[in-house]
Amino acid sequence: MKPVVAPQEPLDLTGPALNLLAWRIPDLVTYQQADDEYWFAPLDDSLPLVRLNMTGVEMLRAMNGHTTVAVLLERYGDTICGPDGQPGRWHLERWATPHYSLCYYGTEPPGGHRHTAKWDLLLQQIREGWSGQDGFEGEHHLEEFHVHELTRSPEDDEHFDVIETTVSHLFREPTDALHNLTYGRLLMRQLRKLGWFNPKPRVMLEVGGGLGYVARELGKELLPFERQSITYISLDITHPFLKLQTKRAKEGGWGGIGTRANAEALPFQDNSVDLVIDNENMADMTPVKLTRQELLTNKGETEQHQDALDWIRRLRLPIDATTPDDVIFNLGPIRFVAELWRVLKPGGHAFLTEFGIEDGWPAPVKLPGHTEYEVQYSHLRQAVRWLGFQERYLPLPQFLAMKPDTKVLCTGAAYTIQRFCQAMHKPFAIRAYTEKELQQALGDLLPRLHGCHYHDVADPAWFGLLDFKVLLLEKPGGAPKAQFTENKGYRWYSQK
Ligand SMILES: C[S@@+](CC[C@H](N)C(=O)[O-])C[C@H]1O[C@@H](n2cnc3c(N)ncnc32)[C@H](O)[C@@H]1O
Repeated sequence: MKPVVAPQEPLDLTGPALNLLAWRIPDLVTYQQADDEYWFAPLDDSLPLVRLNMTGVEMLRAMNGHTTVAVLLERYGDTICGPDGQPGRWHLERWATPHYSLCYYGTEPPGGHRHTAKWDLLLQQIREGWSGQDGFEGEHHLEEFHVHELTRSPEDDEHFDVIETTVSHLFREPTDALHNLTYGRLLMRQLRKLGWFNPKPRVMLEVGGGLGYVARELGKELLPFERQSITYISLDITHPFLKLQTKRAKEGGWGGIGTRANAEALPFQDNSVDLVIDNENMADMTPVKLTRQELLTNKGETEQHQDALDWIRRLRLPIDATTPDDVIFNLGPIRFVAELWRVLKPGGHAFLTEFGIEDGWPAPVKLPGHTEYEVQYSHLRQAVRWLGFQERYLPLPQFLAMKPDTKVLCTGAAYTIQRFCQAMHKPFAIRAYTEKELQQALGDLLPRLHGCHYHDVADPAWFGLLDFKVLLLEKPGGAPKAQFTENKGYRWYSQK
């Protein structure tokens, strides 16, 4: 679903606006279409590409933090700046609006630091506009979004390219960054190393599988005889996603069973599942906003609030006079882990990953058309321990043993390249590309692109991978396992 963005009026460049300084946004990616034609992508992808000639490019270059709007208007205002025929003034009136975000006008760069201008402030402004509402968006918003708004079968990758890009989506093809494996294959290797396939699970449940790539790749990593006798179930709240999940699960060699349900109330019997995989789904589960009054009196205004307060009391989360006037609590993820405790067999396991925080209370995270909520991991870990799970907790890059300094293409650059390719009717997938992989994907197009820039995979400026945590759960009580170490192909069993 594409967000409806309110139209923005062009800026009025008269009076005090003339004295403002202009900064072009850093790291702009450009495509040189012809000798005198360069393409730029406005941030709002419902706007057409901006096509500039050399004069237009010069005007953009002149936005270096030392040139005023008045000077730009004087130099370029009446000159045609591109093949679409608009003069400089037309561009100057639009480029600094959040929808274009090609430049910024001010007395100081955004964020106030000359050399480290905080362009994310502008992006934040735009994100707020996407959802049409500030902050918390209600307790039923996420369920409604998944059940009622995502009703159209996704045109394959579109939803996860445009609306919510996930880590597993970025790494759905083999990549250097993951030792030439896909995310799903590497995940299966790590689960095996943990001993979770010894003995083999009989019932595996994937919750919130998105477009089904993880199911496919997990299956491919196993040999046919290893998959045999494992029932793989995909469960999702969003009906149209389930079709792709079961299709791709079949491609991975699984039976392809899908069930539509909310993971906060799993439709399975107690002690019936061996292994659960939940990738980037908990931030989509029910948030509850509680007032300090409710927290201090332990009396909820609704049944749902009371449920949240009961959990907070059980988990002994610290509530005192310093608690803010209202707080957001991850009720959905806590209900989910309680359901995991119920449905997992003794000895059963769960792999959960999502972005989150360890201190304070969760904040809303704006995405096009919907708002998600950080997972508060110290609360969640307290809940799983209270339930009785044995748990391990670590950052996702560490769990996957990623090389933190692998250089990957900036995701913003990937979106821009996708827009250029769309205009040329060429396919281009949003993925995590190393330079070599981008060269393979783009071939002759690459030399015509300027401004492609790379980040260390672990750099917060790339995708904030370190904010993604892994929670590994084991329900105690399984059959004891033989303990052995392996050395040069020999297994040494311990007597203990
Ligand atoms: C951000 S996507 C992640 C998709 C996929 N696992 C990946 O890594 O790309 C969240 C997925 O969880 C599903 N989902 C969201 N809330 C859910 C809920 N309460 N119960 C079950 N599935 C849910 C969505 O439909 C979607 O498939």
